[in-house]
Amino acid sequence: MLSQKTIDIIKSTVPVLEVHGTTITTVFYKNLFEAHPELLNVFNHANQKKGRQQTALANTVLAAAKYIDQLETILPAVKQIAQKHRSLAVKAEHYPIVGEHLLGAIKEVLQDSATEEILQAWGEAYGVIADVFISIEKEMYDEASNQVGGWSDFKRFTVVEKVRESDVITSFYLKPSDGDKVPAFLPGQYITVRIEIPGESYLFNRQYSLSDVPGKDYFRISVKKEKPGTSPDGRVSNYLHESIQMGDSIDVTAPAGDFTIDLDKRTPAVFLSGGVGITPFMSMVHALAEQTPERDVQFIHATDNGHLQPFRMELTELGHKLTNYQLSFVFKNPSEDDKNLPNFAKQGYVDKELLSSIVKPEADYYVCGPVPFMKAIITYLKELGVDTDKIHYEFFGPAMAL
Ligand SMILES: Cc1cc2nc3c(=O)[nH]c(=O)nc-3n(C[C@H](O)[C@H](O)[C@H](O)COP(=O)(O)OP(=O)(O)OC[C@H]3O[C@@H](n4cnc5c(N)ncnc54)[C@H](O)[C@@H]3O)c2cc1C
Ligand code: HEM
Repeated sequence: MLSQKTIDIIKSTVPVLEVHGTTITTVFYKNLFEAHPELLNVFNHANQKKGRQQTALANTVLAAAKYIDQLETILPAVKQIAQKHRSLAVKAEHYPIVGEHLLGAIKEVLQDSATEEILQAWGEAYGVIADVFISIEKEMYDEASNQVGGWSDFKRFTVVEKVRESDVITSFYLKPSDGDKVPAFLPGQYITVRIEIPGESYLFNRQYSLSDVPGKDYFRISVKKEKPGTSPDGRVSNYLHESIQMGDSIDVTAPAGDFTIDLDKRTPAVFLSGGVGITPFMSMVHALAEQTPERDVQFIHATDNGHLQPFRMELTELGHKLTNYQLSFVFKNPSEDDKNLPNFAKQGYVDKELLSSIVKPEADYYVCGPVPFMKAIITYLKELGVDTDKIHYEFFGPAMAL
């Protein structure tokens, strides 16, 4: 337990650290990777370059410090991060290394203002926060490895099928290379894929949502080829599209993540996805079709045009099973053919007007897509009076403030 004095020091220094939060974590990562280059096999380098990871870590450490005497209030956030950690095989022995460099970075940035007393207090507080993560993650590792077909860290899977879903999205069907069973998962969960790219010094890890229903003898992931033009080509997605073929193997972790749907609920479910953000919903909507086909389902998918849209047939065919199903496509730049599709809803964006026509007070809303898409939709839903606990969302990268 922390002493009251330590708690007081931590709370009184949070405002100062808030000002320097991202600088501290930037220095932290630089020093961490210099001292432990092997950790570059664990972290996502693109998230580092864009600063998203630095901000996510800084925000969390500070939030944890603010609530240091009532950590249970931030437990849901801790669990979500712990899922990500477990999916990347972060281990208890990594915590002291991170702690040492975090404290070192606080000292380096705050210089003389970081007295021995302050550093001592932060060292103790970090220990308490780290212990919470370590114990939650231990439970998650045990659960992952004890389930049927389960395992703890990475396991080799073979690509048994590669299916083009649109001009930019391809699905990969993966089976355990050792012929073992595929574990059960909750619709909406993701796996981490780890690959070695020839000529690169470090391994690459990326998360991909499972896009098919649980209970099959394979995992399906559906990957968008990231070629933005304005910034470098995405490393892993392009490598998967271009170089990974049927028969090749990749390492993956067991399914993780808490963005899932409660299949026992009977409330209407509204799915709002942009682009490749559709993937976790494919798993959810297939599961609903199998388990509660009478549930009221609204599925809205927004993308630029029909050529970029994946799963159109699969989604349309779900209408044979789901008895209360409305499927709508929103295209920014539809062709004439796109406009003639039976599920074409509108040209442009999913806007407040469209949402106001479908909002139901008792519904649950599931949102996934690019950050600006999510920001807009969640703002509109709140403006339309939807309770925040009815809005569920997943970021395809480190969590950000909306
Ligand atoms: C929980 C979760 C689920 C996900 N599910 C899916 C899914 O189902 N399907 C899917 O396709 N993706 C999914 N993702 C995203 C996926 O994990 C990868 O982030 C994505 O495939 C891009 O990886 P990449 O290696 O191709 O691109 P990266 O190399 O990681 O680059 C990502 C982006 O950053 C830009 N970038 C890279 N370097 C720089 C730089 N120096 N400066 C500025 N910009 C830069 C790139 O141009 C690119 O747009 C998910 C992510 C999470 C966290
Ligand atoms: C108490 C200590 C820690 C805190 C508060 C913390 C916090 C976070 C947060 C907020 C994220 C972003 C989650 C998301 O939204 O996706 C994250 C991701 C991550 N963390 Fe931690 N973390 C801690 C310790 C560690 C340790 C010890 C390691 C292992 C070396 C680690 C490795 C990672 C990795 C690899 C990611 C994914 C980031 C990426 O995209 O590359 N973390 N952590």
